[in-house]
Amino acid sequence: MWPKDVGIRALEVYFPAQYVDQKELEVHDGVSAGKYTIGLGQSRMGFCNDREDINSLCLTVTHRLLERYNIKPRDIGRLEVGTETILDKSKSVKTLLMQLFEPHGCTDIEGADTTNACYGGTAALFNSIGWVESSAWDGRFALVVAADNAVYSTGSARPTGGAGAIAILVGPDAPLVFDRGLRASYMSHSYDFYKPNLRSEYPIVDGKLSIHCYLKSLDSCYQLYCEKVRRKSPGESPVTLANFDAMLFHSPYCKLVQKSFARLAFVDFLNAPKNQIPDGYKDAVKFRTAKLEDTYFNQEIEKAFMQLSKVDFEQKTKPSLLIANQVGNMYTPSVYSGLVSLLVSKPINELAGTKIGIFSYGSGLCSSMYSLTVAKDTREGSALSQIITALSYVKSQLEGRHCVSPEDYTSVLAARERNCHVVPFTPESSTDNMFPGTYYLTQVDEKYRRTYKRI
Ligand SMILES: CC(C)(COP(=O)(O)OP(=O)(O)OC[C@H]1O[C@@H](n2cnc3c(N)ncnc32)[C@H](O)[C@@H]1OP(=O)(O)O)[C@@H](O)C(=O)NCCC(=O)NCCS
Repeated sequence: MWPKDVGIRALEVYFPAQYVDQKELEVHDGVSAGKYTIGLGQSRMGFCNDREDINSLCLTVTHRLLERYNIKPRDIGRLEVGTETILDKSKSVKTLLMQLFEPHGCTDIEGADTTNACYGGTAALFNSIGWVESSAWDGRFALVVAADNAVYSTGSARPTGGAGAIAILVGPDAPLVFDRGLRASYMSHSYDFYKPNLRSEYPIVDGKLSIHCYLKSLDSCYQLYCEKVRRKSPGESPVTLANFDAMLFHSPYCKLVQKSFARLAFVDFLNAPKNQIPDGYKDAVKFRTAKLEDTYFNQEIEKAFMQLSKVDFEQKTKPSLLIANQVGNMYTPSVYSGLVSLLVSKPINELAGTKIGIFSYGSGLCSSMYSLTVAKDTREGSALSQIITALSYVKSQLEGRHCVSPEDYTSVLAARERNCHVVPFTPESSTDNMFPGTYYLTQVDEKYRRTYKRI
């Protein structure tokens, strides 16, 4: 017998306490005003100075979740990390996190790290759901940690960076329940974004190809998801965007998410029987013979469907872009920061009982679409009310960050790149502005061993 209502029991998000303003970055980079803020849809970009790395990000978010929800280390039976920020080719970040469990005598904890660009968090999440639903499950929670430091070399990709971490507690009787048997994946080989140079934090990225791969994956996952619902519930009307109250996407930059929502409206339009095309879509009839694979960069179709789906986008997806807009692409946590943003942006009675679609994409490439159903109980003290109340710090912490000039941001990134894998290393940035409970790097010794302290 499977445990009931397996899903998300608790959520914690962490982003660094400093950001660079995208308007100021436009001026600094000498691009036209509006390119980053309107063209890409980004307002601020969070980043790490030399005090933070992948281990500290994961330590911070894990410790904060355990504290905020009063979860004891002995309650965790599986712990795994999804990340593409690789400091060590052998030792997993998960083993670093054991520093939070071992002192309590807790070493019987399964799981290690998973990597594939921005998809590692989703792969770790699927593993954890699988564990809770398996014969190996012993009644404890699984804890999934997804974190990254997303930095690009100078050039057109740099404004699409970000940094942060998410911790997701998985267990039965959850307020956010994973729909069973409804996952659709699209996996393929492509060199759209990859990190072959282990002496650099920067990826090699083919921006245009990555957009092509992202949209192609989205088309495939969505159509397969709809097909799987049809197979599961034959006789019911086909799934369209109307079946979702919210649709969340991995967000490399917010504009691509709006285009992706429009893309799903276009897929629905192509799939709709001729006599069921909504009145408002009559002008688009000329696109009915278009083939999805020919239209990834068709601006006429993109513009038409962004306009046609605008109201739905604002209702179903825009609320999930709060952190993406304010912090940027956090890579593996990105789509889950969308879930947090949704939960802090809508009143609880508008969330209760809703269906949330989730599209996760990681270059290279791995992608999946799945869905969650939100519990109906909104009473004070209910699991849903607890998870929303626990996230009430998010907006004030976004506002509580301090703004760093583009010049200082650029020199922080240059120093990180200079010191990448240089030992021994002692970081110099001040820890004064860090949020309480943040872990910071104190030293990397000559044997590359890292030590941390907590504010
Ligand atoms: C996404 C990426 C390719 C864009 O870089 P770019 O080629 O220099 O940017 P573009 O010239 O296409 O401009 C970006 C957008 O801003 C718009 N823009 C440019 N200047 C503008 C201005 N002054 N005001 C308003 N919009 C402006 C462009 O029209 C374009 O919008 P569109 O795509 O809707 O036409 C680049 O940031 C990148 O490589 N990012 C990392 C990879 C990534 O995020 N991939 C996504 C899938 S994983």
